[in-house]
Amino acid sequence: MTLPSPDAPLRLGVNIDHVATVRNARGGADPDPARAARLAQQAGADGITLHLREDRRHIVDADLRAVMDAVTLPINLEMAATEEMLSIALAHNPHAVCIVPERREERTTEGGLEVAADTQRLSAFIAPLHAAGARVSLFLAPDEAQIEAARQVGAQVVELHTGSYAEHVAAGDDAARDDELRRLFAAASLAQDLGLEVHAGHGLSFANVGPIAAIPEVVELNIGHFLIGEAIFTGLEAAVREMRRQMALARM
Ligand code: PXP
Repeated sequence: MTLPSPDAPLRLGVNIDHVATVRNARGGADPDPARAARLAQQAGADGITLHLREDRRHIVDADLRAVMDAVTLPINLEMAATEEMLSIALAHNPHAVCIVPERREERTTEGGLEVAADTQRLSAFIAPLHAAGARVSLFLAPDEAQIEAARQVGAQVVELHTGSYAEHVAAGDDAARDDELRRLFAAASLAQDLGLEVHAGHGLSFANVGPIAAIPEVVELNIGHFLIGEAIFTGLEAAVREMRRQMALARM
């Protein structure tokens, strides 16, 4: 396994799920997630992320193939650790698979994956994905025990959940924000020491991306909801370009 270099450039994965949310609100074909993926690629995204949820509330099975055909960028498929999703992943062979917790009643992915209490099942789940050549990432809260467990089950990547950090920023709670940032910095450092590549995402926007982009071990951010919302006002390409600019500023 290659260790990420400390000064590796910070990649941006654009999550296009919510283009499908808008499409599904009306039915039919518009707006088209594959078109969004192409625009994100043109604007300098480093990857396209989609979350195929069990209830297909946004991305549906046909989108996965359509998006893979629309771009040359690496595809990161977010999915729950279920047999159904495993067979879909193996049939499509995405560059990366990010395993996320999923509950039907949640509005978005709440909290990180429980790895430490589920190591046997997750090891067995990850093995065929590795055999098929996928990079496997686990979406985790910045928690030491979960990161150590991620290493144990054979993940190559951890994606740190920045949702709590984003909520504290939105609430204007500086003390809670700083505590969560400390946890994220410590988790990123531990993960890199264990040989894991570090990604981060959830709830990131122009207003809060800076401190996360400044975590030196983080090599990829996955950002969706804010960018698709911003695209309504400025267009997706401008939104992606501005996010890249903010990320670069944080690394200067
Ligand atoms: N990373 C993971 C693993 C996610 O599940 C999500 C949300 O689907 C994101 C990143 C992107 O979060 P947001 O849409 O809030 O930018």
